[in-house]
Amino acid sequence: MFAKVAKRAFSSSTANPYKVTVLGAGGGIGQPLSLLLKLNHKVTDLRLYDLKGAAGVAADLSHIPTNSVVKGFSADAQDGIKNALKDTDVVLIPAGVPRKPGMTRDDLFSINASIVRDLATACAENAPHASILVISNPVNSTVPIVAEVLKSKGVYNPKKLFGVTTLDVIRASRFISEVSGTNPTTEKVNVIGGHSGITIIPLISQTKHKLMEKEKRDALIHRIQFGGDEVVKAKNGAGSATLSMAQAGARFANSVLAGLEGEADVIEPSFVDSPLFKSEGIEFFASPVKLGPQGVEKIYSIGEISPEEQELLDKCKETLKKNIEKGTAFVKS
Ligand code: NAD
Ligand code: LMR
Repeated sequence: MFAKVAKRAFSSSTANPYKVTVLGAGGGIGQPLSLLLKLNHKVTDLRLYDLKGAAGVAADLSHIPTNSVVKGFSADAQDGIKNALKDTDVVLIPAGVPRKPGMTRDDLFSINASIVRDLATACAENAPHASILVISNPVNSTVPIVAEVLKSKGVYNPKKLFGVTTLDVIRASRFISEVSGTNPTTEKVNVIGGHSGITIIPLISQTKHKLMEKEKRDALIHRIQFGGDEVVKAKNGAGSATLSMAQAGARFANSVLAGLEGEADVIEPSFVDSPLFKSEGIEFFASPVKLGPQGVEKIYSIGEISPEEQELLDKCKETLKKNIEKGTAFVKS
């Protein structure tokens, strides 16, 4: 139900001009993500910011004959981040350090938490109305960090903060098609929970493959949950998923823009401030979200799930709660 928009990612008409900013645009994700955003006709003003390299990426992309103007902003320049963010509509944050083999996403917290906190502060001060799409890991903690910073600045809008979990969604489509011999472009899998290992829950029971034999299904679920590790291992110290993440980030950004534009029925799973398990102390949760002109328009419940998926959900909740509390405490302390 959420692929309708993805297919239109590169439509050739522009109903509304949108300003989009990428923080961390010179990195492994930032560069291909910026390329895909340069090709998106909903974007007319593309701002690329990084500690290093953003000017070069911007100059390179600026030769592509699409509607947008692209500019690079550096941390060295006076007001670099301020100008990158001023009046922007959508901010994507892939800034931070990626994993190496043997590390968990949580191991990145010690470095990435302060990077994300500082960038969130800049967003609060310069783009208080923007939709913020957080890619930097650990997403289960960095999204609560951004929320706390925005709250402390009095500009928190829960409808406009998103943890990007689309990579789990696209992996689920791909991997389920590989085991089922089907077309990956038509496979839709809702992925709920969070974005790390056992907090990632693909709801296979809600797909047409619900009768898949248990052994095959368990292996599939495990592969979706730990797909990130496959890439980290294959890159052998040179980072984690960048190209598939760029595609996932560009798809989610396009959906957010489609929602802002007022397109109907734009639905994508995302890790958002959610009422679903708040009574259990879980402030953020990924589930299908309807995107609209004000950001989050509706958060769908997880629907009917199998007893096996309920077990996964119970385990997910324990870890997720701790990850969220860690992010929140970091800003409060
Ligand atoms: P990378 O090292 O290639 O790029 C990161 C970029 O961020 C670098 O260019 C760096 O200069 C920049 N940067 C660091 N601190 C900054 C700051 N304060 N301001 C601006 N820019 C800053 O890493 P990558 O492979 O692009 O991964 C980036 C992050 O995305 C990692 O934390 C990674 O774990 C995460 N990630 C998330 C997902 C997801 O599904 N959400 C998927 C893949 C990777
Ligand atoms: C992924 O799922 O590929 C990303 O979160 C990067 C990682 O560290 O695995």
